[in-house]
Amino acid sequence: MNSAASTAKRIVIFASGAGSNAQKIIDHFRDSDISVQMIVCNKPQAGVLSIAEREGIPTLLIEKERFFRGDAYVPVFRDMSIDLIVLAGFLWKIPQALIDAFPRKIINIHPALLPKYGGKGMYGAFVHEAVIAAGEVQSGITIHYVDEHYDHGDIVFQTACPVVEGDTPEILAKRIHELEHAHYPRVIEELLTTKR
Ligand code: GRF
Repeated sequence: MNSAASTAKRIVIFASGAGSNAQKIIDHFRDSDISVQMIVCNKPQAGVLSIAEREGIPTLLIEKERFFRGDAYVPVFRDMSIDLIVLAGFLWKIPQALIDAFPRKIINIHPALLPKYGGKGMYGAFVHEAVIAAGEVQSGITIHYVDEHYDHGDIVFQTACPVVEGDTPEILAKRIHELEHAHYPRVIEELLTTKR
């Protein structure tokens, strides 16, 4: 095995939304030895699929039945020798079979400071509405390992931003997205390049 082959890392992004984080991750690792091998998605209309097409990245549109009651696509990901599965706007719960196949190799980003404002139903605007309604003076982002519960595994990285008077969920969402874009690619790189 040559040295390039031994340092090269392969990631797969699971995303089913607009894909702004996926785009930042793709940009960050362009021309590096960390490659985005595939975008996995469960929504045929998701904006992230257009990003994948434009970037020439293969996509896999997954089916609920196979994901939750079949093999969870484990053989597909095993064959690809993946180093990290990166969730970026993927709302389905990750099946136990996939967690077992990739222990501490699946991470998620959540648009709040977990353990607050996480769990089933806490996604997108619902998170920011709840943060504002509770009168929080700060929110932020959490990058964490994925376990069998929603938004629950060990925390890898958190950073905060202020919530200010007059914030709407849309304004706060924009501030949070900027934080995500600034940190997620960097944290992924750190996870893949530092020994743990
Ligand atoms: C992000 O806010 C992330 O925290 C959450 O889903 C959103 C995805 O946004 N898990 P985008 O599709 O990357 O723009």
